[in-house]
Amino acid sequence: MKACSTKELGRGEMLDFDHDDKKILLANLDGKIYATDRICTHAEADLSTGILSEEGVTCPLHLSTFNLETGVPQNLPAEVPLKTYNVKIEQNEIYIEVG
Ligand code: FES
Repeated sequence: MKACSTKELGRGEMLDFDHDDKKILLANLDGKIYATDRICTHAEADLSTGILSEEGVTCPLHLSTFNLETGVPQNLPAEVPLKTYNVKIEQNEIYIEVG
C-alpha cells in the first residue's frame, strides 16, 4: 500500500495507517523508514503515541521498547514481538508491503 510521501515523515517522526484490519506504525529513525504493527503486544496501547528513540519505539503505557527492525521487545512487560513490514521508497513515496 502507498503510505505517504517521504516529506510527510521527517526524522524522528511517526505516523499511523490503517489497512483492512491492520493498524500500522511508520517511523523515521535517523532517515531509515520502518513499519510495524502499531498496537502493543502487551496490553494494546497505541505505539504511535509512544516515544521514538535510538532503541526503537517505547510503549506509552508500560514502557516496553520494541526494536523497529525485528519487532522484538527489549524489556518487559511485553514479550511478544511486533509484526514488521517491508518498506519500499520509490520516487519519494513510501510503500508498505502489507501482504
Ligand atoms: S501496553 Fe505496551 S508495555 Fe504494556
